[in-house]
Amino acid sequence: MKAAIIKEKRVLKVENVDKPKITDNEVLVKVKASGVCGTDVHVYEGEIPIAKLPVIPGHEFCGVVEEVGKAIKDIKIGDRIAVEPNLFCGQCHFCRTGKKHFCENWAAVGLTRSGGFAEYCAVPRQAVYKIEDSLSFNDAAFFEPTACVLHGIERSHAKLGDTVVVMGAGSIGLIYTQALKAVGVKSVIICDIDDNKLKIAKSLGAEKTLNSKKDDVVKIVKEMTYGLGAEVVIDAAGAEQTLNLAFSLVQNCGSIVVFGVPPENLKLPVKMYDIYRREVSVIGSFTNPPPTNEQALKLMATGRIKYDQLVTHPVSLDQVESAILKMRDHTETVIKAQIRF
Ligand SMILES: NC(=O)c1ccc[n+]([C@@H]2O[C@H](COP(=O)([O-])OP(=O)(O)OC[C@H]3O[C@@H](n4cnc5c(N)ncnc54)[C@H](O)[C@@H]3O)[C@@H](O)[C@H]2O)c1
Ligand SMILES: [Zn+2]
Ligand SMILES: [Zn+2]
Repeated sequence: MKAAIIKEKRVLKVENVDKPKITDNEVLVKVKASGVCGTDVHVYEGEIPIAKLPVIPGHEFCGVVEEVGKAIKDIKIGDRIAVEPNLFCGQCHFCRTGKKHFCENWAAVGLTRSGGFAEYCAVPRQAVYKIEDSLSFNDAAFFEPTACVLHGIERSHAKLGDTVVVMGAGSIGLIYTQALKAVGVKSVIICDIDDNKLKIAKSLGAEKTLNSKKDDVVKIVKEMTYGLGAEVVIDAAGAEQTLNLAFSLVQNCGSIVVFGVPPENLKLPVKMYDIYRREVSVIGSFTNPPPTNEQALKLMATGRIKYDQLVTHPVSLDQVESAILKMRDHTETVIKAQIRF
């Protein structure tokens, strides 16, 4: 089979390798679509120590079951499935207390073992989710990011009728825009520095789009919320500027969700008095614990989240390195690159 292998830092080769052999508790997936994520760029740059090179990356993928391990009774050849890449031990303190995303023995398809940048991938049963016929493979490849977004919404406590500001209109911000509308918020105000992305956000249901390089974001958000600010601000940019701005945009008693990955050593000059006096909650959101996965697939099957416009770069396996370089160097606007087989 053909696979894209990151051999060492900044060396990716597409090669013919043996099809993976499965164990009794794994299925062999014939991959149909595989998203390229910022994490894959970090793996390519050798910045993720847990992803020991060489590795076949790819953790956002779906496909058709080609072979089924002997111990698996509830999956059959030909099933259409999507992969949830996180693997949990089920026995540690966090797994046993319903916080599997903090599993002390965590592993992941496409990071600690071969992933979906290949024609076939062996996947443990626990990471396999059947998908409905109404969900296309191109959409199903957004399973993991969509589940992460739903976890962020749950963490945010966004409610019917709220106004939510989303900072960043990358693929994540654009999924947030649609998922927030689906859970019934009154309006989504989205902010980016790229007008093309903002145009897409508008067509996907954002009430207002703001370019933080040109617009007075605080003034406009206040005008749109009777001077109060937004109930929820979701940072899907991970930038110092957006995180700082969040404190001026959030309403008293509101929440700020730190979803975008900030630079590891970033510290902000937050006034602790404001946290006290304004009852502002600053909430982290990390990956996609299991209950949100089922929820994501059900929402995705309704067709309410549109992914077509997010895939700016549909590519073949042979083009994946070029897509990674475009993402790394920002030589083109890549919202999402997706390998299609
Ligand atoms: N918490 C989680 O579980 C989780 C899961 C997936 C991704 N992420 C993180 O979420 C973030 C978004 O992911 P993505 O794939 O959409 O990334 P992306 O890089 O495509 O999108 C980030 C967007 O933020 C915008 N931006 C940057 N600086 C800005 C500024 N000063 N003002 C306004 N906008 C600004 C960029 O133009 C870009 O459109 C990343 O940090 C990613 O690592 C977190
Ligand atoms: Zn990802
Ligand atoms: Zn565990």
